[in-house]
Amino acid sequence: MVVSGRGSNLRSLHEKASEHDYLIVGVVSNKPMAPALDYAVSCGLPTQLVDHHAYATRALFEDALAQAIDHMNPDVIALAGFLRVLGADFVRRYPGRLLNIHPSLLPSFPGLDTHRRALEAGVREHGATVHLVTEALDGGPIIAQAGLHITPTEDVATLAARVLALEHDLYPYVLQRWARGEVVRPLTHRPHNASPARTSGIN
Ligand code: GAR
Repeated sequence: MVVSGRGSNLRSLHEKASEHDYLIVGVVSNKPMAPALDYAVSCGLPTQLVDHHAYATRALFEDALAQAIDHMNPDVIALAGFLRVLGADFVRRYPGRLLNIHPSLLPSFPGLDTHRRALEAGVREHGATVHLVTEALDGGPIIAQAGLHITPTEDVATLAARVLALEHDLYPYVLQRWARGEVVRPLTHRPHNASPARTSGIN
């Protein structure tokens, strides 16, 4: 897994690993102070720090990141709150096995501040997406989504908490399907203007 921050998805994935039949072989962080890194260490997971500040160029950072990942020999690389944009050369190293979780129903609201933007846009449904990472920011093929109805009294904090709870079920679900060999192609991959398919119901 590749992380930068709080690590709640890492925690959920780790806690659900045995019941979902996958194994976390290691955690790479680009931030030395990331709570996710502390959590991984406290669980005895193999960890590596690849601090982007230590590299003069993005290419050098991404080479080091790839080396750290390859050392762990994962079948699939799960980005979870990794907040650096990855370049084309890095993405091309891992065709079809580089995953990311994003806090919106892509293709709506790629990028940052998704919950505030969803509320400001007045959408009635919001959620989370696991997708393959490609060179297009938050634009790779969608693997699975989980959605919810936005309530009339919703604010950014309540919405963020509810979406995060969806993420904590969605990512383990996807990795379970992956471990079973059931993700041979994206589970859902709709044209951009189609309404998103979902793997769990709208709550
Ligand atoms: C999650 O909400 C994840 O979807 C988001 O960062 C958060 C990480 O939380 N990722 C992105 O916005 C990537 N574009 P966590 O560190 O507690 O798992």
